[in-house]
Amino acid sequence: MEKTLTRWRGKVALVTGASSGIGRAIAVDLGRLGLKVAITGRHRPTLAVVSAEIRRAGGEALILTGDQAVLDTNRRFFRRVRARWGGVDVLVNSSGVRGGTSVLTASLAELQGGFNLNVLAATVCMREAVADLRGRPAGVIINLCSMTGHRLLPGTPGPYAATKHALRIMTDGLRAELATEKLPIKVALLSPGLVDTPWHSRPGGVLAQKGAYPYEPLQPADIVAAVRYILAAPPRVQIGDIQLRSTGQPF
Ligand SMILES: NC(=O)c1ccc[n+]([C@@H]2O[C@H](COP(=O)([O-])OP(=O)(O)OC[C@H]3O[C@@H](n4cnc5c(N)ncnc54)[C@H](OP(=O)(O)O)[C@@H]3O)[C@@H](O)[C@H]2O)c1
Repeated sequence: MEKTLTRWRGKVALVTGASSGIGRAIAVDLGRLGLKVAITGRHRPTLAVVSAEIRRAGGEALILTGDQAVLDTNRRFFRRVRARWGGVDVLVNSSGVRGGTSVLTASLAELQGGFNLNVLAATVCMREAVADLRGRPAGVIINLCSMTGHRLLPGTPGPYAATKHALRIMTDGLRAELATEKLPIKVALLSPGLVDTPWHSRPGGVLAQKGAYPYEPLQPADIVAAVRYILAAPPRVQIGDIQLRSTGQPF
């Protein structure tokens, strides 16, 4: 393990959306780095499998279940972490949904679900994490955005892109407020292109319908490497934004 990462051993992380895909891979790797990892999702059985993986990797795990789109769930998660481990040092907001595939025809419930989870739940988690991190010497918040959180990519539905744009600006806004308060909390946005996860076979996933990715996608391990890069940066360096795309991704 890189020496710069050993400083995180024994620290506490909360990873949302840790039952699947990118969040799962990050949670297991944080366990490998020796962190205590709180993992969230809606289904205990899937989280139990991830928890076992984290423990096998050398970390400790705490399972937190609940629907984050019901915003109070997020506060409950943090209360549980404080009761068990005294608060978080690292927050990774990875849970996400499409939130409707069309501006014209998505139901209001779908649109609201997208904004609740992708933007507001992530924001509540950021606030709770900052509450834990006040007075601590270091902390990191990482938000999973998307290439389509920077511009509307061809073929990407507007509602999803809109939530990721909003998350990007919330992230920038938080970073500015923390700097004004001179708090040593780093805030990073991680914006992948296409990643090979179960996301694409969920309802509304067009790639699953086609049966194949159009080019070789990124792997969750590539996102894990970016998280390690963020955590390994020295105290004076704040990685603000990482965009990663496949070598073959055209836009
Ligand atoms: N895969 C890609 O190509 C890609 C590209 C760019 C950005 N991203 C972003 O990366 C993040 C992770 O994506 P992924 O590919 O890992 O997706 P994924 O495999 O579909 O995982 C999504 C996660 O979100 C959780 N989740 C969904 N709805 C939830 C809710 N209402 N309450 C609580 N948890 C909920 C799921 O947990 P349960 O279903 O178990 O509750 C699951 O753990 C997302 O924010 C996504 O927008 C993905």
